[in-house]
Amino acid sequence: MYLGVLTEREGKDKSNDIIFYSSKYFKDMASICKEKCIEFFIFYKDDVNWKKKTIKGFFLENDEWKRKKTVFPDVLFLWPDIVHPTRHKTKYMEISKKFKIRVNSSSAIEAMWDKLETCNILKRHGIASDGAIRQPETLSYTKENTRKLFKKHNSLFFKPRSSTWGWGIFMISKNRDDYTINYKENKWNVTAKELFIEIEKIMKDASYLVQESVDLVKYNGSVFDVRTVIQKNKKGKWVIAFMVVRKGVKGKIISNLHGGGRDIADIEKVLKELYEDRYKNILSNMRKAALNSANAFPNAGILGVDIMTDEKGAVYIIELNGTPGIYDFRHVPLKQKKDVSRNIVEYAIYLHNNKNV
Ligand SMILES: Nc1ncnc2c1ncn2[C@@H]1O[C@H](COP(=O)(O)OP(=O)(O)O)[C@@H](O)[C@H]1O
Ligand SMILES: [Mg+2]
Repeated sequence: MYLGVLTEREGKDKSNDIIFYSSKYFKDMASICKEKCIEFFIFYKDDVNWKKKTIKGFFLENDEWKRKKTVFPDVLFLWPDIVHPTRHKTKYMEISKKFKIRVNSSSAIEAMWDKLETCNILKRHGIASDGAIRQPETLSYTKENTRKLFKKHNSLFFKPRSSTWGWGIFMISKNRDDYTINYKENKWNVTAKELFIEIEKIMKDASYLVQESVDLVKYNGSVFDVRTVIQKNKKGKWVIAFMVVRKGVKGKIISNLHGGGRDIADIEKVLKELYEDRYKNILSNMRKAALNSANAFPNAGILGVDIMTDEKGAVYIIELNGTPGIYDFRHVPLKQKKDVSRNIVEYAIYLHNNKNV
């Protein structure tokens, strides 16, 4: 069996083929494949000969990447880092779809590119805006829906339906006489009359959703969320690979690492400090939240689930990602990162063995 990873050249020097930013993890995958007698290679989109169905891939031999002509992979893994907005994500999705068996399902990835669609899918799977495991109440952005949500909630989040890294997100709180807008590092007040003019000025022509703002518990003065990576294993069953806390910058409304946040691996310590003896129950609900989310996407093989908690300990699913960054967390132990690679390989084998089922 051949397992191929579609990735992209790193660095400006296009003549140097062998600069892999993620080299360490590719080597992990290569060594796991070797144990299992599977051929493993990495390739770039321009290395595919679509007519002849061959690829000039990189194979690891004696710790060095060697270029060799090979057949199409039996199973494809789309390297998560290349599927992001600055790298023409749609183009890579289209290429990946030409390979029949894929660890990451394109329908799931594409559904998650639309945050509103994701909320609706979760809703259909029974994740409501109340209960121990919930999602914030969410509607498509219209003036009417905004008014409707302001009747129930004091603060609302506005998010571009298709964005990442916190881009374009703002929050508005209702005061007695006016509203306060929080956008990037700025805060300003507007009257009820000016409200929608201001909102639509920020939105430009992008399609937005409007969502209840969760009254988040703060850790050392900052908001945080928990990135959970859940994967399918060698039996095709969901398992949680790791959970890591992402702590935002004080005063910011978002906890994204791209917004200056940082990660903390010891989630139990954080939850214990915040919730004392309730922490086990909350942690267990977080795990359930990840599992429930994953079950809403039966075709997916790997999923990032971002989870937050409020003062009372309710668990909120905030965002799902079908191509979750795995290796950009500095504090996730290497052993756990290697387990992520192992699950990818073993699930690929499972898919290959069950392709006719
Ligand atoms: N409804 C909400 N209530 C409170 N904070 C939120 C809410 N939605 C998002 N956030 C904060 O904003 C961050 C970015 O939102 P998210 O939906 O994950 O968008 P992105 O795709 O840009 O990461 C979250 O990680 C969280 O810190
Ligand atoms: Mg996010």
